[in-house]
Amino acid sequence: MDHKKLEALLHDMSLKEKIGQVFQISGQLLVEDAAAMGPMQEMGVTKEDLALAGTVLGVTGAERIQNIQKEYMEQHPHHIPLIFMLDVINGYRTVYPIPLAQGASFQPELSKECARMAAREAAAAGLHVTFSPMTDLVRDARWGRVMESTGEDVYLNGLFAKAMTQGYQGDGLAGAETLGACVKHFAGYGAPDAGRDYNTVQLTERTFREYYLPAYQAAVDAKVALVMTSFNTVNDIPATVNKTLMRDILRKEMGFDGVLISDFGAIGETIAHGLSSDRADAARRALEAGVDIDMMSGAYPEKLEQLIREGQVKEELLDEAVMRILELKNKLGLFENPYKGADAEKEEQVILCPENRALARKAAEQSFVLLKNDGDFLPLKKEEKIAFIGPYVNRKQLLGGWSFLGDAADTVTVEEAAREMASDWSITFAQGCQVLDPETRLVGFGNDQETCGSPDDQQALWEEACDAAREADKVVLFLGEHFLQTGEAASRGVLELPQVQQRLLEEISSINPQVAVVLFNGRPLDLRLVNEHSQAILEAWMPGTEGGPALVRVLTGGSEPVGRLPMSFPYCVGQVPVHYDEFPTGRPYHEPDQNRFLSKYLDIPNRPLYPFGYGLGYTAFAVSKVRLDKQEMTADETITASVTVQNVGHRTGTDVIQLYLHDVSASVVRPVKQLKGYQRVTLEPGQETQVSFEISEEMLRFYTADGTWASEPGVFEVMIGESSAVEQKAEFLLR
Ligand code: GLC
Repeated sequence: MDHKKLEALLHDMSLKEKIGQVFQISGQLLVEDAAAMGPMQEMGVTKEDLALAGTVLGVTGAERIQNIQKEYMEQHPHHIPLIFMLDVINGYRTVYPIPLAQGASFQPELSKECARMAAREAAAAGLHVTFSPMTDLVRDARWGRVMESTGEDVYLNGLFAKAMTQGYQGDGLAGAETLGACVKHFAGYGAPDAGRDYNTVQLTERTFREYYLPAYQAAVDAKVALVMTSFNTVNDIPATVNKTLMRDILRKEMGFDGVLISDFGAIGETIAHGLSSDRADAARRALEAGVDIDMMSGAYPEKLEQLIREGQVKEELLDEAVMRILELKNKLGLFENPYKGADAEKEEQVILCPENRALARKAAEQSFVLLKNDGDFLPLKKEEKIAFIGPYVNRKQLLGGWSFLGDAADTVTVEEAAREMASDWSITFAQGCQVLDPETRLVGFGNDQETCGSPDDQQALWEEACDAAREADKVVLFLGEHFLQTGEAASRGVLELPQVQQRLLEEISSINPQVAVVLFNGRPLDLRLVNEHSQAILEAWMPGTEGGPALVRVLTGGSEPVGRLPMSFPYCVGQVPVHYDEFPTGRPYHEPDQNRFLSKYLDIPNRPLYPFGYGLGYTAFAVSKVRLDKQEMTADETITASVTVQNVGHRTGTDVIQLYLHDVSASVVRPVKQLKGYQRVTLEPGQETQVSFEISEEMLRFYTADGTWASEPGVFEVMIGESSAVEQKAEFLLR
């Protein structure tokens, strides 16, 4: 539909119709007799409001969506189609690794492929928009939603934000196999005080702009269709009603011209924040801040009509919001085809098809990070007698907390995969214990509470595991968090494995010290005990539907682990927030300096247990000193920095060679290093290659003391290595 017709449509709509467009309802209000249900009364929403709503959250299924769309449009005064939106975060039904695991792959192009696959499945099931990518920068492992991010690095997050947006949106929003993407949560949601979800965010302007905004900008530059507001405050004003943030920064400075949707109930929550005085005030402030869609607070449908009729809010602001929603519907092609990609037959064909499972398996394999491998414990050898022990040996819930569209029943467990793929190996299986301690209670979206069985059952599991360890040459322990221990509203003050699993680790390693641990978790954990009682540690995150087969292939040497940490693993929770790109301070501590008066702890090291960018493979590499092709450059020149990389191990392997820069002296303090590029290299044993990076003046820019985005002349250090722990450096001068 051309823009003039959209304007004519807008002009023709009643005030109530326009208010309907800016309200998103959840599916259950549509399909059950919600009037009788609490939500509608609580939200002050009438049946008429429902009939005029513009978008729907949480309905899937081609037939169901087609029926709702048909009924809805028939009764709508202008027959305007609904947009169906939902959280397709790491897959629709074929679930691939959680975003933090994807970050570990250091392969945004792989995430783009996964997003394409998710869009193909979800679009066939009738969905139009996904609330992804989540690109909040994260430095605090206590925050459960780190699992939804691609990590602590601003450069890496930007690459993934762009790739995922392009993956979902493909070559056009009207496509039958694309989804509109929605970058979230704008902005700075990943930095809550004390790592406690929904808590206050306190960031300096410079930190906010230099670390937290760039990845959202990358999504906006990739033409992301929507942005979602965040629950937190920015400069002490809730983001959802923060006019400066939304109108001046997001729309004017960053150039976003799509639809801005609130997070779930966030408009109404500005009252609890202590900012809005009541729901009318909240509705007014949100519309004035430029929020186009009210997701389920009900403040817009309940209060906007009166506010506009009484002249407390300009109708033009409503018209502006409605026009952006109509334009989105138009870009999605819904006026021409309200059913877009919905196709029950195709839904049946594409969901969980072999190629989708194969991609999910590849993404899982590429996300694993080998943290420790003493004595080349891994890969396992066929002639060894091996025991697979732990609650994740036969567990199907490997999908992560934002995969309610997936079905754990589709998952191939580690045991199932091993029995099929390594049937001629000598592997025994024992669960050993449950995931959680008996007294732990977790509330999820459904009644996910798992039973731990009777004490006799637990004793039987325990003894079976001890026997298996006794009989084996090597043990692989499969341990981890419960999927409900990470994700939204899952902050933790203690970052250890459940006690029962820690006891199992200690018991098994006392019986047989030849232990490797495979971890299933959605956040960096305190791995001191795991480190103490194991020869090898493989981080598997929440690997998705095909996590089992992917792990068996890597553990048996069919492929090697190539992941690198996208987020630092702290020595313990006392170190958090910990991140590699910290400032030097006036009293930098370099181990093992004994001077008391330095920036350090009395009782723990400064260094994380495992740093950003770190990961091992099944071979070893040597990286030479950095060579620069010149010692100084002007702003319009570049410098080439090179290293020689050699595979000094015994099997072909892949390494991630990372470029870090440090501005030694500037008008504001600068991080000790920042990732500015990386290259993945695969080499045969003995083979060597040159890895070169071109350093441009643009890479040296930052927010200077007077707030301009610029570089400053001076000395820069160049570090090139296999993780952020790299120390050897070369210097150049920017004139
Ligand atoms: C949730 C989350 C957000 C999600 C939305 C819709 O509260 O904060 O990430 O997209 O609601 O499910």
